[in-house]
Amino acid sequence: MRKKGILITGAAGEIGEALVKSLSEQEENQIVTLDLRPLTPEHSGHITHIQGDLMDQALLARIVSEYEIQVIYHLAALLSTRAEFTPEAAHQVNVEGTLGLLKLASEQSQWRGEPVLFMFPSSIAAYGMPDLQVKAQYPHVREWEWNYPTTMYGCNKLYCEMLGIYYSQHYRQLAADKPVMLDFRALRFPGLISAFTVPSGGTSDYGPEMLHAAAKGEPYACFVRQDAIIPFMAMPDAITALLKLAKAPSANLKRRVYNVTSFSLTAEEFRQMVVRFFPQAQISYKPDVKRQGIVDSWPAGLNDNDARRDWGWAPDYDMERSFGEYLVPNITARYRGG
Ligand code: SER
Repeated sequence: MRKKGILITGAAGEIGEALVKSLSEQEENQIVTLDLRPLTPEHSGHITHIQGDLMDQALLARIVSEYEIQVIYHLAALLSTRAEFTPEAAHQVNVEGTLGLLKLASEQSQWRGEPVLFMFPSSIAAYGMPDLQVKAQYPHVREWEWNYPTTMYGCNKLYCEMLGIYYSQHYRQLAADKPVMLDFRALRFPGLISAFTVPSGGTSDYGPEMLHAAAKGEPYACFVRQDAIIPFMAMPDAITALLKLAKAPSANLKRRVYNVTSFSLTAEEFRQMVVRFFPQAQISYKPDVKRQGIVDSWPAGLNDNDARRDWGWAPDYDMERSFGEYLVPNITARYRGG
């Protein structure tokens, strides 16, 4: 008999770390985490960490031989800035890695006779605004608008959403008499900000980097212009969104891919918030043409009405609460503690 389990890929990453912590407090089933890196040490007994490569088919086969995977949180990805340096490698991880897992989830759904739930974090990078005028004209984009990503990462995310939808409508064994498809659900996240980790290789990183540098008392040169604007969200809300969408009854879901957001800020407004809490912060601007171009192509805000309507989404942390109650106190404590 296989043990029932939840699989989390990219578990040592930014979202992964927060999700593992939250799930380990509420999940009774075994949590199997997969990442190239080791997992931070403090975690409870029902987490099994496998340090390995998502692309390793034999490893995936071993996991399903031991565990009956009921839910997959597929978080592993190469983020937007990093992916531009090695686009083909990014494609391999972001697309082929996802395809391999979708295939596995599809087979497992059929095998179990019950759908495997496949949770996929997508991104504002799935959008591409053609220029700043249009960006200003459409400040709250809907899921089906402006799907013209300009980055490899954004192309990968958009395409994987489509692959997920494909596999939720097709099954792999043509001869099956009672076809069971996987249950694919995706969230398009804005730039995420965690108090406990700093992202690496993303393009929304200037926000969290500004804040963490200020808390450490280090100077920071922001790589986008003052007027650059995108939506953001505090990490606890990202976890709430993932868990809430995972629990939503299928019948309520009118789409498989949902926007979620909290607050939009320009880089300068972000700086002002940081300075309000850390008056000594030394933040200057040194825009990088490529990264600026990526941020300019992302929408200024998202319309998340469908998520609100279908599964009761609402962020707990608006801008004031994000900074005042989550980010600043936790970041301050973190660096004070060394
Ligand atoms: N935060 C991500 C990045 O900057 C976007 O999803 O790449």
